[in-house]
Amino acid sequence: MIVVEQVTRHYDREPVLHAVELRLAAAGLTAIIGPNGAGKSTLLSLIAGLDQPDGGQIFLDGRPLAAYTRRELATSLTMLRQRQAFNARLRVRELVLFGRYPHHQGRPGAADYAKLDEVMTYMHVTEVADRFFDQLSGGQQQRVLIAMALAQDTPYLLLDEPLNNLDIPNAVAMMKLLRRFVEDLGKRIVIVIHDVNFASCYSDEVIALKDGRVAFQGNPADLMVPKMLESIYGMPMPVQVIDDKPVSFYYLS
Ligand SMILES: Nc1ncnc2c1ncn2[C@@H]1O[C@H](COP(=O)(O)OP(=O)(O)OP(=O)(O)O)[C@@H](O)[C@H]1O
Ligand SMILES: [Mg+2]
Repeated sequence: MIVVEQVTRHYDREPVLHAVELRLAAAGLTAIIGPNGAGKSTLLSLIAGLDQPDGGQIFLDGRPLAAYTRRELATSLTMLRQRQAFNARLRVRELVLFGRYPHHQGRPGAADYAKLDEVMTYMHVTEVADRFFDQLSGGQQQRVLIAMALAQDTPYLLLDEPLNNLDIPNAVAMMKLLRRFVEDLGKRIVIVIHDVNFASCYSDEVIALKDGRVAFQGNPADLMVPKMLESIYGMPMPVQVIDDKPVSFYYLS
């Protein structure tokens, strides 16, 4: 369970999160949507313990994040950042194995290599396992970074725009894989995503951030209403129901 209690974050003197309150149950897939600059990445980094709030507190399974050791946090929670910079010239296999570090502490064993193979297969990066990361295409790099996050194999998974650079089949496969993780393994996944249709079709719950505040938290069906979407994005967002699923044809508006 993730509890965000009155969390505020300022950069310089500019507030980017205003007393945010959230409760996320122990399992399930939550999508965070909202305009550029709304505070999505800031919120995710705070939940991951990569940044500290200026006010309020965050609890993971009833304990304040600040009470976790680095290793406890690294075996509880993984975060895929929106932007990742590596200076080192690493091969894909080395990089993904690095995701296992909290488990093997520098001495990988059979279980670590088995997990490595499993996640590289999931993310379709086995063919590029021996290539250098900086020689891959944007989408291949993104899939390697997701594989690295999955290799960490934590109950909580925070993914900031994991669909960036993915082609349509890979994006759909990614969302289906996340659903499997939730349903078969009971994982708690929070994903930042821009496409409201992906968010609504695959998630159990959606949170919309706008100007550093929670503008919506609830069922995808309650989000996918033209008035609600327009209030979040400030543009017309027509919705049609196809096979009982509401879909927004925003690109035709
Ligand atoms: N390190 C920083 N220093 C100063 N301002 C920052 C910093 N990081 C983010 N901001 C500002 O905080 C606000 C929220 O940024 P954040 O990255 O959380 O937005 P976001 O919702 O993830 O947007 P996007 O959809 O573009 O990724 C923005 O106005 C941004 O310019
Ligand atoms: Mg962001």
